[in-house]
Amino acid sequence: MKVNKVVVPRWFDRHLHLRTGKMLKTVLPCTLNQRATGAVIMGNIPYPNQTSTIAKALAYRKEITSLIPVDSDFNPRMTYYLTDDTSPEEVMRGYEEGVWCAAKLYMANQKGHGGTTGSQHGVKNLLGRYPVFAAMEREGIPLLGHFEAVEEDVDEFDREIVSLERDLIPLLKAFPELMVVFEHITDGRAADFVAQAPYQIRATVTAHHLMMNRNAMFWIGMNPANYCRPVPKREDHRLKVRKYVTGGNRRFGAGTDSAPHDEEAKSRCYGCAAGIFTAPAAVEMYTTVFDEDDALKHLGPFLSENFLCLYEMKVSNEMMTIERTCTFDFWVPQKVGTVQIFAGGRYFPWKLVD
Ligand code: DOR
Ligand code: ZN
Repeated sequence: MKVNKVVVPRWFDRHLHLRTGKMLKTVLPCTLNQRATGAVIMGNIPYPNQTSTIAKALAYRKEITSLIPVDSDFNPRMTYYLTDDTSPEEVMRGYEEGVWCAAKLYMANQKGHGGTTGSQHGVKNLLGRYPVFAAMEREGIPLLGHFEAVEEDVDEFDREIVSLERDLIPLLKAFPELMVVFEHITDGRAADFVAQAPYQIRATVTAHHLMMNRNAMFWIGMNPANYCRPVPKREDHRLKVRKYVTGGNRRFGAGTDSAPHDEEAKSRCYGCAAGIFTAPAAVEMYTTVFDEDDALKHLGPFLSENFLCLYEMKVSNEMMTIERTCTFDFWVPQKVGTVQIFAGGRYFPWKLVD
């Protein structure tokens, strides 16, 4: 029987970029309108403000919370931005004081180039941070990892698998109890690993990586709107990741990696910014994916339940309702402010109504 309505607990975005200043004011309401109970906020804001000290994380949290309406219960869960200078004491102190719920690993190469926006100040020497990971394992502090090799000679489409084998597996062997989230997973081999590994490992998955493969970046000419990190992969990888997600594997959860850039930065011929903005319609996009796979029964756990305790969040007692729209009345708007929305102008057959 065709289901026309899905009611699930209000959801939680496990990976979100909100930026600062005017951009923050523009994009925050999008996630609030999507009825999220909160989100894991990435700290890769412009240098020197990235959330790599308690003071910086508190300042950023204050900027965000000052824009949350008083009648909203939206809970921004901050993250620590790991650097080569990170000490175990700082990570532990910020966690104990409730400043952040996890530490985010961005890697940079020896030339100081990172794998994505704002990651050039990240970790160059992973082994050098092992004392930090030991403390995190001991204290139960989750590590949220952007696992992509950043060396120039690694093929763009192999960055995730190279980092899995070279960085993550040795890390997990050294710290088998460390809680790790493999962020925005795209490679089918990495998804196999997450599904089967005898470790405390989970993965977030974006809506856009579930919906498109790498052709989308080149379709009818270069299309920077579909460029993000990690770059979308071959179709067989997308289908493998999607199989775990819509098959109801509890190690996979929704994390949009919604990453707004204004039009100017996205449409540069040289040095187009990496990032895809899905915040205004993320629930509708995920729901469409589950529906296409005849898997709506697994939507609620993926959006609203799986491994929320890692972020010290509980499954919400409040429900949200998503309805099938038979009247073609949910077209994703093209833009919010100066930011293009992923799939803008496209129709989705589901709409978050309450
Ligand atoms: O495409 C991306 N954009 N991937 C990331 O990991 C970061 C993000 C951003 O901050 O723009
Ligand atoms: Zn991100």
